[in-house]
Amino acid sequence: MSEKMPKIFWKIHNGLPREGPGDNESTRKAYLMLKDLPEHPHILDIGCGPGMQTIELAKLANGRIAALDNHQPFLEDLKKRAKKEGVSEKINAVNGDMFNLNY
Ligand SMILES: C[S@@+](CC[C@H](N)C(=O)[O-])C[C@H]1O[C@@H](n2cnc3c(N)ncnc32)[C@H](O)[C@@H]1O
Repeated sequence: MSEKMPKIFWKIHNGLPREGPGDNESTRKAYLMLKDLPEHPHILDIGCGPGMQTIELAKLANGRIAALDNHQPFLEDLKKRAKKEGVSEKINAVNGDMFNLNY
């Protein structure tokens, strides 16, 4: 999909903190509703975009996150932000298609 979108789309979306509705409080609320998680959960964040929720999840969970998106610039943003927030080692940024998952 990434290559099929007009350039103006990516120009408008470049550098935004996130690519959908929500905030860190919503991520925390959703995560804390999950019961009986393993001590070190493996999380798959499908369509992670620039990763605001990925980073919040990395702060909440004592586990690992595979953050998948098919737009490489979002993944580069995510990697930069994760480094700044000190959670890089918990996140694996994967360029992939959500319609063809290998998990
Ligand atoms: C509505 S945005 C949400 C991004 C992020 N979860 C957030 O809340 O900020 C949807 C994301 O899915 C990605 N995406 C769209 N189609 C995809 C596909 N086929 N495979 C992987 N990612 C895809 C887009 O690049 C975009 O980052």
